[in-house]
Amino acid sequence: MSARPKSIVILTGAGISAESGIDTFRDAGGLWERHSVYDIATPEGFARDPDLVLRFYDERRAGLAKVEPNAAHLALGRLEAEFAGDLLLVTQNVDDLHERGGFVDVCHMHGELRSALCTSCGTRSPWEGPMRDRPPCPVCKAPTLRPDVVWFGEMPYHMDRIEDALAACDLFVSIGTSGAVYPAAGFVSQARAMGTRTLELNLEPSEGTAIFHQARHGAASRLVPEWVEEVLKG
Ligand code: OAD
Repeated sequence: MSARPKSIVILTGAGISAESGIDTFRDAGGLWERHSVYDIATPEGFARDPDLVLRFYDERRAGLAKVEPNAAHLALGRLEAEFAGDLLLVTQNVDDLHERGGFVDVCHMHGELRSALCTSCGTRSPWEGPMRDRPPCPVCKAPTLRPDVVWFGEMPYHMDRIEDALAACDLFVSIGTSGAVYPAAGFVSQARAMGTRTLELNLEPSEGTAIFHQARHGAASRLVPEWVEEVLKG
């Protein structure tokens, strides 16, 4: 990337957390190879078998205690602290490794494992433990909590903020995502349509790789710290 960026939007996906030991979705052996996406990640699946869905996300939430942020998360935390321009980090990930890597203002468009959504009162509450035993909502006390994650067929969070930042940025960077799920998969085209430079950092070419001005392929733990160094050096 040539000119020094003044305003950056970064999109991350499961690939940035892969080297921390969190399963991706679509790689060989990924989550959607072992579980049906329709059973686990749709409102209809939850209505059909809530125990199955609550158990799935309880296990993922408990698994967070066993993983640590890797060099890619840490590098983005450093970027937020040291970059003088505007920066928005949008993640599709429901883990908390960006926060634990030092990034403070993370935009979780697909929700968070460590958050509960009450289907009775609509409150979103910080949540650490399991949900399968139907604990009461901290606010209305109804035993109607669900994982505060966005399922297929539901509207991702923070879309207004993301659209505004995409329209204003001069560099869009996509890290560790297959580019298979919309609306996130469309961000690169939106950015390009506005004349914004676009960069992909991914283990392999994503579905939208041809749309990016530049693509670098390799492990996020190497590519992301290298790129952050470039940006901060100017
Ligand atoms: P995917 O599993 O679809 O894609 C992960 C991407 O990361 C792939 O392109 C891998 O090549 C790449 N990758 C794997 N290891 C990597 C590494 N060490 N360094 C860099 N890249 C690596 O995951 P997402 O694109 O995040 O949504 O999936 C998007 C959404 O689909 C998820 O948020 C989830 C899922 O269904 C919902 O559940 C709504």
